[in-house]
Amino acid sequence: MADGPDHLALHAPGLTLRIPEPGDATALYRLASDPEVTEWFSWGPYQETAEARAYLDRLPDQRERGTQLDLLQVHPTMGPVGITGLSEFSYRDRRAMVGTWFGRNAWGIGANQEGKALMAYLAFELLGLVRLGAYANTENVRSQKALEKVGFQREGILRGWHRHGDRQLDVAVYGMLRPDWQRGPLADIPVRVEGDVPQSFTTLLAAASR
Ligand SMILES: CC(C)(COP(=O)(O)OP(=O)(O)OC[C@H]1O[C@@H](n2cnc3c(N)ncnc32)[C@H](O)[C@@H]1OP(=O)(O)O)[C@@H](O)C(=O)NCCC(=O)NCCS
Repeated sequence: MADGPDHLALHAPGLTLRIPEPGDATALYRLASDPEVTEWFSWGPYQETAEARAYLDRLPDQRERGTQLDLLQVHPTMGPVGITGLSEFSYRDRRAMVGTWFGRNAWGIGANQEGKALMAYLAFELLGLVRLGAYANTENVRSQKALEKVGFQREGILRGWHRHGDRQLDVAVYGMLRPDWQRGPLADIPVRVEGDVPQSFTTLLAAASR
């Protein structure tokens, strides 16, 4: 990969994922200042643009360390609609977790399926992972249905897994293995890639397989 800023964009017919930029702060603030969007998260709703800016400022270092790869979700007519990202990498085991949020206007329009198709392509095809996991709060029915619809399997409940305010919440854990992806609905969605996976991720994967 060339030196310089990370450049990666993944395109499906109705959604693009790209590396977020500082100029995305206003759009992210607008989307995540809605309490309905962040109801199940340990953060938010955003009270000011500076919180979105601080989030964006942390991303380059997380990519550099290979700990988190967050991408902005951009709809062809609506513009930025949310974030999706890979985290909790185990390079030795070739797995990571995917997490996603959309602004309220982008729920139920099919963008989640395309975003998950792009993330699965990134995970399985570009990074060579063998397992993609996801968490959902046990009361977040919409998120659980959405994961099952795109081919994730519900694997069980992790008790007291997620700290939310002063409460320790249970989460449902989901998984998709490479053959699940190959046989499932996500692999049918066409993907076009521009740029490269940030080099730290490929370096860490190569080092773990030696
Ligand atoms: C979770 C999220 C990414 C899913 O994307 P989405 O576009 O809303 O999901 P979809 O519309 O494709 O799928 C949701 C499904 O749940 C169903 N659903 C929603 N609420 C439901 C309920 N209370 N009971 C049963 N089904 C429900 C919907 O009908 C839909 O199924 P259908 O398409 O068969 O009708 C999105 O809603 C979001 O960003 N939510 C806020 C952040 C969040 O919770 N992220 C997940 C953290 S784990």
